[in-house]
Amino acid sequence: MSPVHTEAVTIQLFDQEPRAFAGDLLAYLVEEDIFHLGDAGKALNRVLQQVCDTGDFKGGKEQTFLLYPSLAAQEEGNAVCAKRVLFAGLGKQDDAIHVRRERLRLVGGVVAQQAAAIKAKDVLVVLPKDYLLDAVEIAECLAEGLLLGNYRFDLYKSPPKDEKDQPARVERFYLHDGGLSQSAVRKGLERGRAIGEATNAARDMANHPANYWTPAEFAEYAKKLSKRTSLKCKALDKGAMQKLGMGGILGVNQGSAVPPQLVILEYRTNRKNPTLLLVGKGLTFDSGGVSLKPPAGMEDMKYDMCGGAAVLAAMQAIAEIGVAGVNVVGLIPATENMAGAAALKPGDVIRHYGGKTSEIINTDAEGRLILADALAYGIATYQPEAVIDMATLTGAVIIGLGHHYTGLLTNNDQLAAQLLEAGAQVGEPQWRLPLGPEYRKQIDSRVADIKNAGSDRSAGTITAACYLQEFVGETPWAHLDIAGTAWNFTEKSYIPKGPSGVGVRTLVACLSQWKGLKSVEKK
Ligand code: BES
Ligand code: ZN
Ligand code: ZN
Repeated sequence: MSPVHTEAVTIQLFDQEPRAFAGDLLAYLVEEDIFHLGDAGKALNRVLQQVCDTGDFKGGKEQTFLLYPSLAAQEEGNAVCAKRVLFAGLGKQDDAIHVRRERLRLVGGVVAQQAAAIKAKDVLVVLPKDYLLDAVEIAECLAEGLLLGNYRFDLYKSPPKDEKDQPARVERFYLHDGGLSQSAVRKGLERGRAIGEATNAARDMANHPANYWTPAEFAEYAKKLSKRTSLKCKALDKGAMQKLGMGGILGVNQGSAVPPQLVILEYRTNRKNPTLLLVGKGLTFDSGGVSLKPPAGMEDMKYDMCGGAAVLAAMQAIAEIGVAGVNVVGLIPATENMAGAAALKPGDVIRHYGGKTSEIINTDAEGRLILADALAYGIATYQPEAVIDMATLTGAVIIGLGHHYTGLLTNNDQLAAQLLEAGAQVGEPQWRLPLGPEYRKQIDSRVADIKNAGSDRSAGTITAACYLQEFVGETPWAHLDIAGTAWNFTEKSYIPKGPSGVGVRTLVACLSQWKGLKSVEKK
């Protein structure tokens, strides 16, 4: 079974008149109460006006209207060649630029959904000329919405006997500039394509069952990626981890029959540029270990690698689109957490990379153990300006924030500001939670330097972050707890049920506009 499923869905510019497009669906994006399609031709503008007059369609957010040009009176010599025309609503212009971006992603998702409903294979979308946003961003957000909304994963289903029962997916998207600068549209389309494809690749990794997506697949994907891009890749195996003393990853791996990996990807620009370190939890299945999880819903724990997938996919996207002024290193500690005969037991003491010891209270608090080694190793090896880790770390973050906001915990206000801004831009909001010595005390151990879980469940997300903080020293660091947002997230037109690919777009946005950190701030 191929570990990567995303078959090529293409997206490209269409540089003839939209009415010459002879594909399955031609979509126009309509702002609320602005019943005019620019240069779409008299006939279509008339139809839109009539439809709006009936009140059936007003261009409201996610509203649609489908029509068949062959049934309408066509203009002599000016006929629309597409089989169908879709009007898709953008809603009212909003003052907030983040909202305008999100509207475009949402409308992209809606077009993809409508296209699937009619089994369209070729779809042309005309960009809205008077939409108050930079042309690069218009094309980028729309391309993202189309590709993300078109996502399907059916690799493990036998194909239906009848071809017509095949689940539908668009194969070719086209964008028409709608009168916007073609070079800007081309640039935005290329960014949206790379970021959308990377996010879908992260969803694929998560959708694979844990018997197919193991630590070795993480390493294999990264190695292949490094062959076709400028990224450098290394993967530390169990022997290398033993030499380095990575007792966290090795400890969690003890109960599993599948060997661990520490996958390393490097994006290098210039030595003089600062390095940013990304670390993602690549726990390919979390049974809880000896502190076994209850069976109901345990199958979802194949998604416990979504942080690692997001880091790997973000590295893929930045290798394709490039980011200036920074070097980026991605680390993915990957292992299963199983309850085999050699598994860690509550009460055991492990020694992390760098020497710190930890008393295991609960073997289900394993994410922090593998991240601790990766954080300490990454900081010692690369001396980054800042570190961002991403992990499905605690059930507690779901109790606190539900499925709509990612938890953000950080020792640096400037880093917090950059991440919050990046998340808001891409429609992946975060909410900051506190850190502090009063919480840190909850993981004091009587027998070791630290223990891996507090004695009660209070502030579970914060105590988990306090554990990680022990391994970053003074380095500016942010932890994103995506346990609530990595799957079955707020359903949106461009985020279907299942893994959302959260974090990829936030990381890419954050790296793309990195502003550096003033070194005065220490906490
Ligand atoms: N992978 C889980 C966290 C999780 C739970 C993610 C639910 C997504 C949905 C993590 O390894 C875990 O089990 N954490 C424990 C920690 C506790 C034992 C201190 C938790 O949150 O219950
Ligand atoms: Zn766990
Ligand atoms: Zn886990």
